[in-house]
Amino acid sequence: MRPDAIYDRPDLYDRIVTPGPCEPFYRGLAAETGGPVLELACGTGRLTIPLAADGHEVVGVDLSPAMLDAAAGKARRAGAKVAFVCGDMERFALGRRFRLVLVSCNSLAHLRSNAAVLSCLARIRDHLAPGGRLAFDVVQPDLRALAACAGRGGRPARTWLPPGAPAVEERTTYDPVEQVRVSHWSLCRPDGSREPLRRLALRQFFPNEIPLLLGAAGLRLVARYGDFEGNPLGPGSANQVCVAAAGAG
Ligand SMILES: C[S@@+](CC[C@H](N)C(=O)[O-])C[C@H]1O[C@@H](n2cnc3c(N)ncnc32)[C@H](O)[C@@H]1O
Repeated sequence: MRPDAIYDRPDLYDRIVTPGPCEPFYRGLAAETGGPVLELACGTGRLTIPLAADGHEVVGVDLSPAMLDAAAGKARRAGAKVAFVCGDMERFALGRRFRLVLVSCNSLAHLRSNAAVLSCLARIRDHLAPGGRLAFDVVQPDLRALAACAGRGGRPARTWLPPGAPAVEERTTYDPVEQVRVSHWSLCRPDGSREPLRRLALRQFFPNEIPLLLGAAGLRLVARYGDFEGNPLGPGSANQVCVAAAGAG
């Protein structure tokens, strides 16, 4: 499986996805559970590096060699020790167990089919130490936004990145049967040239699916919040921040 196009461009990724409130949330959880910590889809090390700096033993798995190279460079410069592994979260086997497994920043949404999600969750269950926790955040589907781009042509939008960076033009479509939102991105440079990127396809997880998917993989939801401050999930919550453990619900 090939990573989505934005992940060939870690420099661009780091401009778009900057440190946020997920960092204190996951650091706090790691302080409670203790390590070792496994982050799946760890990207450029936005969380693995601070977690290692907190003194945890951290392993980061990602499908994109470019993202992992960027992460390894950042970890080296920060003096943080992280074991980065190139692999697919749908079918990884590390031969050891972890007190905490993280899948942050809507990364689980890269697994679009139920079979892929269940395969990943089963692999996670097999990598959890007794009493260990899985923590992940996925977006709460925004029905109005999805409805607006459910037509054939999709909905265009333009995002301007910080000065000097190209603008990103995004055309979004949504397949309500597959529950997949697809973004077609183009980089628009100041000289007027355009570079189309490969599509970014993200599964939408509706709230009632999550306990069922976890249950089908031998996991149970132990907490779910609507944000990283621990507020309850509600109709207006942008995220579903979930904590799960092995065992029946
Ligand atoms: C939104 S980024 C999140 C990166 C990081 N967790 C963060 O919070 O900044 C999603 C990451 O998932 C990775 N990815 C996508 N599909 C994957 C898969 N099947 N297995 C492992 N990593 C995957 C991408 O390469 C990318 O680095």
